[in-house]
Amino acid sequence: MANVVIVGTQWGDEGKGKVVDLLTNYADYVVRFQGGNNAGHTLVVEGKKYVFHLIPSGILYENKKCMIGNGVVIDPAVLLEEMDELTEAGLPVTPGRLTISHNAHLIMPYHMLLDGADENAKKDGAKIGTTGRGIGPCYGDKILRNGIKAGDILDESLFREKLQENVDEKNFLLTKKYNRDPISFDDILRQYLDHAEKLAPFIGNVSVELDQARKAGKHILFEGAQGTQLDIDHGTYPFVTSSNTVSGNACTGSGFGPSHIDEVIGILKAYTTRVGEGPFPSELFDATGEALQKKGGEFGATTGRTRRCGWLDTVVANEAVRLNGVTGLAITKLDVLSGQNALKTATSYELDGKRYDAMPGNIKTTSKLNPVYEEMPGWQEDITQARNADDLPVKARNYVKRIEELTETPVMLLSVGPGREETMLLRNPFEK
Ligand code: IMP
Repeated sequence: MANVVIVGTQWGDEGKGKVVDLLTNYADYVVRFQGGNNAGHTLVVEGKKYVFHLIPSGILYENKKCMIGNGVVIDPAVLLEEMDELTEAGLPVTPGRLTISHNAHLIMPYHMLLDGADENAKKDGAKIGTTGRGIGPCYGDKILRNGIKAGDILDESLFREKLQENVDEKNFLLTKKYNRDPISFDDILRQYLDHAEKLAPFIGNVSVELDQARKAGKHILFEGAQGTQLDIDHGTYPFVTSSNTVSGNACTGSGFGPSHIDEVIGILKAYTTRVGEGPFPSELFDATGEALQKKGGEFGATTGRTRRCGWLDTVVANEAVRLNGVTGLAITKLDVLSGQNALKTATSYELDGKRYDAMPGNIKTTSKLNPVYEEMPGWQEDITQARNADDLPVKARNYVKRIEELTETPVMLLSVGPGREETMLLRNPFEK
């Protein structure tokens, strides 16, 4: 048996969904442990397109069990919509196939309103560019101990009590601080009691189920959302999401012991992208950046926003290797680099004569860093037909080899296109 964590090594959108989909083949359980419906990925299976924001894509396989851990924040309306879409597609989600942790916090309508109001009130330069899904305010309430958990809505009197306290506080903020309309206790109560009825059979103890699975020798795949540089502690704060995206949170966010994790796979896009505001040292503002964006289809699955594009950055990759304990890298979208005469990689930064090999803690410094590039010759061939590493042109192989050298981490997967067949699994972490 093996228990494997998948994380993004950059600013999200590294193509985790595709790798998760592939490795789900070998897993019995697939677990989300952080984030919420700020994440999203699209899968095309047998000509049908599925967009997932909360439910692990493992739900498409009949014999897999999907889990939404305590570290996730859940918008119940979004979750129920995802379940309905799957049912309509002939894949009904039954309680035996999905468990939602009773300790996962719920995104409430006021979280979304506050996310928007807060972002709106921030001055230019301070705006985060959030997805507007209420993620930050929901995690905020969790930390302030005001949050409402999935298990709470199953107890009407407890839920009423917590909701009343929250509505009183949020209405004060909405009307007095942000000059907005108040929200209605009755409307939210009605709406969430309805959600509670539908979700009740799915709410349970994820930690206990995972422990039983582990003892029974099952394979467990932990699916991270966003990326390492968006981690609330280790990312480019405050331009981050509100959860820990690093592998350590696979344990905290699901109730699974760290000593049972066997492998951590870091997903690394062959170049770099970022959505929303915040520093991005290797960002390109020229035709090359635009070409990467176009060729790579760099538009967000959740908000449809255009992604900023730039060269590969191994300072960022090395941060991810260190923070997550990455045991293997999965390089995605290698095909997007075909046709470039030269490929640049940021291997360190420079500012005012000082060299940086890691991200500085100060956001103002981080925003001003100049990347120090090394350059390699690019390849012109279309590589989407490559099915083995040996099928790649030597210049593409050299690029991959250089990433291994710079990160001191072996590459275990290469992806050269969106299709399932365009993925080369060089080493399977579930086959030890
Ligand atoms: P929030 O998670 O909606 O609070 O947004 C905070 C920051 O994280 C913003 O810059 C978002 O664009 C970014 N972000 C959140 N989720 C994702 C994701 O799944 N991919 C890429 N960026 C994300």
